[in-house]
Amino acid sequence: MDTKFTRLNIPLDPAQTGRDATQLESGLRKLIIGQDDAIQQIVNIYQMNLTGMNAPGRPIGNFLFLGPTGSGKTRIVEATAETLLKNPRAVIKIDCAEFQHSHEIAKLIGSPPGYLGHRETHPLLSQEVLNQFHTDDSKLSFVLFDEIEKASDALWNLLLGILDKATLTLGDNRKVDFSHCLIFMTSNLGASEMAAMMAPRLGFGIGKSRDDIAAGIADDKLAGKLARSGVEAARRKFTPEFMNRLDKIVTFQPLGAEQLRKILDIELNQVQQRIFNSPMDRAFVFTVSDPSKDFLLAEGTDMKYGARHLKRAIERLLVQPMSNLIATEQVRGGDWVRIDFDSDAKQLRFAREAEGLPVGEMARLVDTSVTIPALNLSQAAVAETANALRARSNKRS
Ligand SMILES: Nc1ncnc2c1ncn2[C@@H]1O[C@H](COP(=O)(O)OP(=O)(O)OP(=O)(O)O)[C@@H](O)[C@H]1O
Ligand SMILES: [Mg+2]
Repeated sequence: MDTKFTRLNIPLDPAQTGRDATQLESGLRKLIIGQDDAIQQIVNIYQMNLTGMNAPGRPIGNFLFLGPTGSGKTRIVEATAETLLKNPRAVIKIDCAEFQHSHEIAKLIGSPPGYLGHRETHPLLSQEVLNQFHTDDSKLSFVLFDEIEKASDALWNLLLGILDKATLTLGDNRKVDFSHCLIFMTSNLGASEMAAMMAPRLGFGIGKSRDDIAAGIADDKLAGKLARSGVEAARRKFTPEFMNRLDKIVTFQPLGAEQLRKILDIELNQVQQRIFNSPMDRAFVFTVSDPSKDFLLAEGTDMKYGARHLKRAIERLLVQPMSNLIATEQVRGGDWVRIDFDSDAKQLRFAREAEGLPVGEMARLVDTSVTIPALNLSQAAVAETANALRARSNKRS
């Protein structure tokens, strides 16, 4: 062949992702535990969007999330908004169970002109609503349809149009454009079959250590089997038209002991964040010993309810007692509250370890392996002091 250029044949690596997609991935990995497949699928679609490789005239991505309750289906959507838009609430949520009847559909799209009540209705799915969380940096919208198996036929028809053409026609004939949306749909479909598959492995905790449970879940073969059972349940329930419009179907895995431990750290960090977000004169810091964490995990592990059960245990055993301590002024701004496990009484023990600490000092006590974004301190300095303090407090106990 007579070419005017040199043929190079340089090998390329399509597995590398760009900086923004890599940042999304590491952000999600900090917040979402044990659902790497779901993270990967979101990152892939985001990367395609950044490079303009998405199919035009469709939403950026249509995802169906299946799997057990409390496994992170809703949380991963919030976490994506949190990472990309710095706002976990920047998600438009439609609870499909609430739109069973035709007059309820009007809440979503508004009623036709001339119809009684037309002027009063503000459709929940208008263009303004979709665009409300746009920032200078990002024009993405996140729409979440929860529990889609409960959607009425009318809602299904709306959904099919959105998924396929990225448009919705409102009651007054205005069009809403969904082409800058990531659409997420969740369903517990197949979760009971999945639980039945897990049961012999887990013995539901009876006579098995939590490590056995974690090992059972880490088993790739089982993960694959669970994923297939989820997809099969979806194929039985949903029409081919719907299934064909999906970009990705992800089956969320039940969470094991190892994952719940990491989620516990994230949740404790979020409680700390809430306290730091209160007026500064009321901000205090708390630390939780390892035996206390073991106790919270033992109380909060329930294979059926996933991380939901853990969150309830944290509220009941830690947050609620702490709020009593605040209300009775046993704990005030600038205090360091140390939480240990009382093995005789089988409960958490709270002690005021220090008082009058400046903010920087309190921040240094926080476990920085799970980062608190709001704190603008040099990570290295914080980690160093936190380690020193931890070593000191371990010595004392
Ligand atoms: N994989 C996970 N990683 C981190 N946190 C999680 C995970 N799964 C659940 N959580 C925590 O548990 C809470 C409940 O989870 P989430 O709302 O995502 O459950 P879900 O899978 O949507 O369940 P449901 O089917 O009942 O709606 C979350 O807000 C989060 O705090
Ligand atoms: Mg949910």
